Amino acid sequence: MAGRGEGDAGKVVSAAKAAQIVSEYEAGSIVGVGSGSTVKLFLDQLKRINAIDRYRYISTSYDTTLYLKRLGASNVETFICPPEIDVAVDGADEVDRELNLLKGGGGALFREKIVLRSSRRRIIIVDDSKLVGSLASRHPIPIEVSPFSLSYVIDRLKSVIDGEIHIRSSGGKLGPVITDNGNFIIDLKPRGGIENPAELDSEIRRIEGVLATGIFPYDGYEIIVGYRDGGLKILKS
Ligand code: A5P
Repeated sequence: MAGRGEGDAGKVVSAAKAAQIVSEYEAGSIVGVGSGSTVKLFLDQLKRINAIDRYRYISTSYDTTLYLKRLGASNVETFICPPEIDVAVDGADEVDRELNLLKGGGGALFREKIVLRSSRRRIIIVDDSKLVGSLASRHPIPIEVSPFSLSYVIDRLKSVIDGEIHIRSSGGKLGPVITDNGNFIIDLKPRGGIENPAELDSEIRRIEGVLATGIFPYDGYEIIVGYRDGGLKILKS
């Protein structure tokens, strides 16, 4: 089970609510599973209520796949995402006032986007620390880029937006982070914030070599916000 710190109380609240919603789906339903610590808490809750082996999972990362297997899930698809998923559950790094998301802090973003887009119901689980006035105010925007096009993309990005650009690296001798799709991640910290997240996402994706950005413009998400005192709010527009 995911190691739980005291600061995780709000995450646990939202994860438990998502597990309760998913447990109302019939056995054999297709469940998309995002990545990250809040998603692991959600899977822990499914395990706790003996529902972990009831579904067919579409996993968005090696990390999530290994975790699902560890908890005893036997039906996990990692290769091809089906076009219709019953319900997906994922976390986020930031949620703005218009309910746009910033994701990809853990290096998984492209598969998460495909899984969310392919799902009839899209549940996002966060604690209240993830609520921000505007996106990228706390975290940079992750951009997944094919290694061959790295220099080209960095050069083009400079003409799209003013900001600090870093190639994401692992600590010590490990070198650049390689995503589950074999790509690099560029972290872009815009100077002066983002005015229109959807427009910026499309503009960046127009650069050849970019696979996805961590901007997830609002797309019917049900955002479950958990609070440390046990309260929760569901945001939807
Ligand atoms: C993974 O790359 C992300 O998209 C996660 O959904 C996001 O980083 C939230 O992670 P936590 O639940 O660990 O905060």
